[in-house]
Amino acid sequence: MCGIVGYVGRSAGRVNTEHNALDVVLEGLRRLEYRGYDSAGIAVVSDGAISSRKKSGKLSNLVAELEARPLPESLTGIGHTRWATHGGPTDQNAHPHLADGGKLALIHNGIIENFAELKLELLGKGVEFASETDTEVAAALLGDIYRNRLGGDAADGGLTRAMELACQRLEGAFTLLAVHAEQPDVVVAARRNSPLVVGLGEGENFLGSDVSGFIDYTRRAVELGQDQIVTITADSVEITDFYGAPAEGKEYHVNWDPASAEKGGFPSFMEKEIHDQPDAVLQTLLGRSDVHGKLTLDELRIDPALLKSVDKIIVLACGTSAYAGQVAKYAIEHWCRIPTEVELSHEFRYRDPIVDENTLIVSISQSGETMDTLMAVRYAKEQGAKTVSICNTNGSTIPRESDAVLYTHAGPEIAVASTKAFLAQITAAYLLGLYLAQLRGNKFQGEIKDILADLGKIPAKIQQILDNEEQIKELGRSMADAKSVLFLGRHVGFPVAMEGALKLKELAYIHAEGFAAGELKHGPIALIEEGQPVFVVVPSPRGRDSLHAKVVSNIQEVRARGAKTIVIAEEGDEAVKAYAEHVFYIPETPTLLAPLLSTVPLQIFALELASAKGYDVDQPRNLAKSVTVE
Ligand code: G6P
Repeated sequence: MCGIVGYVGRSAGRVNTEHNALDVVLEGLRRLEYRGYDSAGIAVVSDGAISSRKKSGKLSNLVAELEARPLPESLTGIGHTRWATHGGPTDQNAHPHLADGGKLALIHNGIIENFAELKLELLGKGVEFASETDTEVAAALLGDIYRNRLGGDAADGGLTRAMELACQRLEGAFTLLAVHAEQPDVVVAARRNSPLVVGLGEGENFLGSDVSGFIDYTRRAVELGQDQIVTITADSVEITDFYGAPAEGKEYHVNWDPASAEKGGFPSFMEKEIHDQPDAVLQTLLGRSDVHGKLTLDELRIDPALLKSVDKIIVLACGTSAYAGQVAKYAIEHWCRIPTEVELSHEFRYRDPIVDENTLIVSISQSGETMDTLMAVRYAKEQGAKTVSICNTNGSTIPRESDAVLYTHAGPEIAVASTKAFLAQITAAYLLGLYLAQLRGNKFQGEIKDILADLGKIPAKIQQILDNEEQIKELGRSMADAKSVLFLGRHVGFPVAMEGALKLKELAYIHAEGFAAGELKHGPIALIEEGQPVFVVVPSPRGRDSLHAKVVSNIQEVRARGAKTIVIAEEGDEAVKAYAEHVFYIPETPTLLAPLLSTVPLQIFALELASAKGYDVDQPRNLAKSVTVE
């Protein structure tokens, strides 16, 4: 939710990094655009003045504006790509916002909750506002403090001191980056409950909402804590709290390479990420067990005695990550016999949940920054629960604030709608479930080893589906005019059906619903009319207690009422053929692992249908990848 970049390069006369701030900031914004694309803007400091350009719409609009009205060469700049909260996506509301007579520029991610009160105060001082944003209020406050309270004196701490004083007055969530014409070699940033990382270069330093903002230039990053201010120059990075007390950041090495955040020959990030999935699962499984098949989750630094005493698990997540949690619930309860609830993070806190020191909270978040999930985790910690984060983004806030983390190693996920992170999240949650089962003695070591071996075969099976994707792609293209698509599933196939429907809503803007197949006759069957497309995720016919026959009956029920049935079934399942207009086969696999396969055709279907409609599958309308506001 809003991408932020800051840069300071070394000034002429010293070692010149030959980077123009504009190029560095634009490249960062290009990589961060997935965080919001309602507008984009840049400000640079040059010749003792601020120059800025901003444009509503995608980054390409800003690039066109910069071609028409170039910015001067500079060594200091900030840039922003916006997901609108306060004020519509107009040029006027785009960041940066200027203050102090145009000498100060500020960009912001988050929401300033007390902006109305501050605005009244500033209006009373004669400040004029050009936008409807809370950000402009923060800019005006900072400008007022800098000029009127500190007298604009750089010797008195200048912009950094002004930022401290401003942050002491701001409520809500924010990452702020500011530049001032009178301090041309400095970018000052602050963070509270919103993401910000520092990139360390040679004679240049960077700021970004995440490391992709500067991955082309350095792999050395510094994590910041909550309520911290960082002042970067070309040669220094100084961190303090909001009251000026020195603070330390934690340096880490970014192991993504820039190429992994490129499209790699695919027409979209989404298509590339769908094809990354064999590797995403493989990487998430790597190095998790010893030669005897014993799981060794080294990152999970929670006292085993505490994990043994867990009597309830609550999975907290939003969107696709919540569906990963719903899939995992079946496996965790089956393997560990621990009651497991899955709760949407934003609902959790408000229902007075029963949480105590024997509760294990498992948060699932690709970005590690989703505000709803972060707040839910904090709430659970306050109640004494132990917290484990399943996360794809190193150094992000949720894992940092959790007692332990299990990283998914899916690599950067750029397309807004999640694909490879979903499969990696299920994989990681399964590892956690197996680890708990091992620790608590719910499963014999041999059984765990067998399940791990089955998991190990999943990447090749996903690859097999991808190698035969043409059939499902063709169906997607042929259904570009569909007005509504329904998805049915049962057991682990139920969350898969919901995820299939979500992908279609997100990418193709089509009405889509996922139902538990058994619930059909209790209401949703009324939706079925002649020609209604219905996807059915059919469980394996093999194994004990198979629900196969019941789901086949459900297919017949909708088909008898005119539905066009599209079936995802296991190879060799001949029984479904008679009732399906289209069948897509997935390789044989144990029931609990089937979502790692059956999701893939549904992703490809949504991608292809949306592409056939000419939509931008990487940046669907109204969405943002990382939702850092509640
Ligand atoms: C946004 C994205 C979804 C994602 C959800 C949760 O809504 O558009 O694709 O599933 O956030 O994100 P997280 O980073 O917490 O997994």
